[in-house]
Amino acid sequence: MFINFWYAAAESKAVNDTPLHTRMLGQDFVVFRDDHGRLHCLSDICPHRGAALSEGKIKHNAVECPYHGWRFGGDGTCNAIPSLGPDACIPPRAHVDSYPVIERYGLVFVFLGDLDTDYRPGILNIDEYGKDDWRTTMMVLDWPLDYKRSIENMLDSAHIAHVHLPSAQSRKIEDFSAPQIDVESANWGATFTHTYRAPKANVGDFAKDKKLNDRMTMISGFYGPSQAWTSIQPTQDSVIHQYAFETPIDGETTRIYLFTARNFMRGEADDVRFHNRNVYVTEQDRLIVESIRTFQGSSDEDHECVVDADLPILQYRKYLHEWEAHGWRIDQAKSEGARPRVAFAIPSPARRTRTSWVIDAVPLISPMDNEKQAAE
Ligand code: FES
Ligand SMILES: [Fe+2]
Repeated sequence: MFINFWYAAAESKAVNDTPLHTRMLGQDFVVFRDDHGRLHCLSDICPHRGAALSEGKIKHNAVECPYHGWRFGGDGTCNAIPSLGPDACIPPRAHVDSYPVIERYGLVFVFLGDLDTDYRPGILNIDEYGKDDWRTTMMVLDWPLDYKRSIENMLDSAHIAHVHLPSAQSRKIEDFSAPQIDVESANWGATFTHTYRAPKANVGDFAKDKKLNDRMTMISGFYGPSQAWTSIQPTQDSVIHQYAFETPIDGETTRIYLFTARNFMRGEADDVRFHNRNVYVTEQDRLIVESIRTFQGSSDEDHECVVDADLPILQYRKYLHEWEAHGWRIDQAKSEGARPRVAFAIPSPARRTRTSWVIDAVPLISPMDNEKQAAE
């Protein structure tokens, strides 16, 4: 898991004037709206004695700890300590990490890291969102697996014929052999164009009476460690784009916010049909991805026999290595080994300028420490 990226913490509609607990990157957070409706996300650990702020209340524009009533504003600073009276001199260490927050696509995104604004990555763009000639829907999936397996599955076109073809029945398995994969690399991710010859394609569920492509192109890509997208074109005129914002709850659990945009059958009445199809197909993915046993962490390919069609997966891992070299990878062995005695916080931007933090920053893998990388 990596710090210094944006992660979807919750659906916007779930956040109101009651503190909402959420877990990301193996740590706990409280998300709330203040009296003016502004969103905030803080580390959930009270610096006084460690109670969960998310169990408290919103009062006077701040979140109030349920244990002794200390109050923390949206910037993470403590502004009231009832036991010290109204003229309390607030100790300088009485503050928690506060994280940048953005609402987009009906989700609350939180920047979990300490990078300054100019150096942060963005959020994967959904071009079609809100456009009249597209219909976009969203579903939430909770998968009991490492998010990286799920992202790699989205980038991998070679599994489609074998995992999904019986349900699609629009192509023959041979049509999916030996794709040409073109790579377009960018700062925070890459795009892969997989081209297959598909001269004997049949009509599919969504392709009746439509002109079929004699070459099938599938596009997949990733942005950051946990956002990915795919594009498929069942016919010359119909396009389906999917965007996954995957939030690692911890190293073994992932919440996926999956958006599907389509430029055909755009009526609300067709949503159910697409939803049911998504449920069916994503369940096929979950079952196969959950069965993977050779995943070794940061040196996966030593324990796999990869071939040309796995190029996108290797490219994705190359980026992970680069972000690890920046010192952004969480040392899971160390942080999880310390639980439940020790609590950590994801470092927020304020840690670059403010000193005296009660809760230690989560341990990160040192770029030089290869032994730890292998052990994760
Ligand atoms: S533990 Fe939060 S106020 Fe005491
Ligand atoms: Fe799949």
